[in-house]
Amino acid sequence: MGTEVENKMVTGIYLITSKYKDKENGMIAAWVTRLSFKPRLVGIAIGKVRYSHDMIKKSRKFVINFLSGEDNETKEIIDWFGKLSGRDINKMKRYKWMYGKIRVPILKKAFAYLECEVIDERQVGDHTIFIGRIIDGKLVDKNKNSITTLGYE
Ligand SMILES: Cc1cc2nc3c(=O)[nH]c(=O)nc-3n(C[C@H](O)[C@H](O)[C@H](O)COP(=O)(O)O)c2cc1C
Repeated sequence: MGTEVENKMVTGIYLITSKYKDKENGMIAAWVTRLSFKPRLVGIAIGKVRYSHDMIKKSRKFVINFLSGEDNETKEIIDWFGKLSGRDINKMKRYKWMYGKIRVPILKKAFAYLECEVIDERQVGDHTIFIGRIIDGKLVDKNKNSITTLGYE
């Protein structure tokens, strides 16, 4: 058996942004989940080979940017941030950004976002689960919904 069964698991698809020293970057992640109400915690599983991995590990902060399933540009955003590496190019130049409490870039066109501080991490095979405490966040447009793995092939 290959990974056909796991590939049928439905999740949201998010843009994870990070900042370490002068470098800013974004990558796509589908392995993103809520973990606790009190405190409000979320988890992201980031491949150890990703450029974002060490940025998040060192800076201990990240933003989860919510991408709308209704927006035609979303697939383009997923391909750009999900198929290219910040190691090779500056992916940030193509889009517009703003900054919140933790000073990590927030995609201006995200319909919602969560600013998180890393409080713990777990090594799980070839990924690290970063556990983030939600510091701040905003639902900018309550009429939009996240793109999921069902809406992106
Ligand atoms: C739909 C989709 C979902 C993805 N989910 C994850 C994920 O959950 N974790 C991960 O480490 N990489 C995931 N990736 C791969 C990264 O986004 C990709 O390797 C990216 O180029 C890493 O960028 P970086 O090297 O600039 O950090 C996903 C890619 C796509 C297209």
